[in-house]
Amino acid sequence: MKQQRLELNYEVYEDISELPEADAALLREARGRTIQAYAPYSNFHVAAVARMHNGKIVVGTNQENASYPVGICAERVLLGSAANLYPGEPIDAVAVTYASKLAKSDHPISPCGMCRQTLAEFETRLHQPIRLILGGMEGKVLVFPSASNLLPFAFSGTELVS
Ligand code: THU
Repeated sequence: MKQQRLELNYEVYEDISELPEADAALLREARGRTIQAYAPYSNFHVAAVARMHNGKIVVGTNQENASYPVGICAERVLLGSAANLYPGEPIDAVAVTYASKLAKSDHPISPCGMCRQTLAEFETRLHQPIRLILGGMEGKVLVFPSASNLLPFAFSGTELVS
């Protein structure tokens, strides 16, 4: 038996003012887009905004449904839009933020497992890591060089042979 160690490197910023300008601009855009979420059930309005490799900005917000499991997270709405608006175009960075009527948005949230899996496969598919910027409406911001950093040992599908 041999013990293995997994190291995760990421950046912690005290607030948006410390971020490199390109990251700050993306997070600002995301903060302005939470209003587009449809979240009458959770009152938790999430926005995920991508800067594509071609410089274009694509927005996703969570879209809920009275049949709760039908709802889709902001990140997966974003990735679906990006793939269709700019087919084959890699994503350089994604900023995720949230607004809630019930709680303060003063720290980062982190994508759910399903979104991590989808982000990871988008990276593989387009052969480029996605820089992930996580922050609330105020407060600390976390930056991960690759969305896959959040999903070690992801299922990649390489065993799926037909
Ligand atoms: N949600 C997202 O859209 N992204 C996340 O990263 C976390 C959760 C949504 C799903 C649901 O509409 C609401 O937030 C509460 O879970």
